[in-house]
Amino acid sequence: MIVYLNIETLIGENFGMIDFRNRGINIDTTFRCTLECPSCMRADYKRRGMKYPGRDMPFEDFKKVADYFKSVQFCGQISDPIFNPYLIEMLEYCDKHKVKSLVNTAASQRKKEWYERAFNANKETKWIFGLDGLPKDSHKYRIHQDGEHLFEMMKLGASLGNEVAWQYLVFNYNENDIETARKLAKAHNIYFKLTYSGRWTDTMMKYKPTNPKHYLNSLRKI
Ligand SMILES: C[S@@+](CC[C@H](N)C(=O)[O-])C[C@H]1O[C@@H](n2cnc3c(N)ncnc32)[C@H](O)[C@@H]1O
Ligand code: SF4
Repeated sequence: MIVYLNIETLIGENFGMIDFRNRGINIDTTFRCTLECPSCMRADYKRRGMKYPGRDMPFEDFKKVADYFKSVQFCGQISDPIFNPYLIEMLEYCDKHKVKSLVNTAASQRKKEWYERAFNANKETKWIFGLDGLPKDSHKYRIHQDGEHLFEMMKLGASLGNEVAWQYLVFNYNENDIETARKLAKAHNIYFKLTYSGRWTDTMMKYKPTNPKHYLNSLRKI
């Protein structure tokens, strides 16, 4: 027999639920992105001639969401957070209200001044940049990305004291540069986050690494 001591226990642990204020949320704060990464859900929408769903989340809506969670991950599935016009205000809000924040971004179409303001808006925000290969090569998968500019912005963030991570998805064009990139990251106080992809649909086969240790969905046990 289970004896419930209080309502929190009843609605909580025994049902696998945790109070929202102890949970994090991962959101698309916009529908925009300037890149055309071939395995992104955006590519499916484009192939089918469909409109990208959603809109720029208004700041007032963001506050309602952030007030209910312990952390907010600005990542989502179909967009890049740098294009929400209120991202900087949202980061400031997280700072003021002690909500942890994490930004996943790969688009590079913002100027240095914007990144500087964004990094300074919240010194506790963790930034994860999708740069798949050496800065000169990343655009091979991250179509339209200016990898050299983005790497400069990553260095800027790290030099301003923000936590910056380099998410390096392994593809055939970058699998021999992993150690060079790792050293480059270390030299600039950037955390190196090597990531293996498992998305090997038809359109992605031309990017598949030759070394089976460099991708998922192989016979390799992970
Ligand atoms: C839709 S993106 C949104 C955030 C941001 N636009 C970005 O690309 O980092 C969500 C996540 O998918 C990851 N992603 C993109 N292409 C991938 C691939 N081929 N394999 C695994 N993850 C991938 C991104 O790096 C990011 O962490
Ligand atoms: S940068 Fe992110 S949102 Fe934009 S196309 Fe690439 S994976 Fe999709």
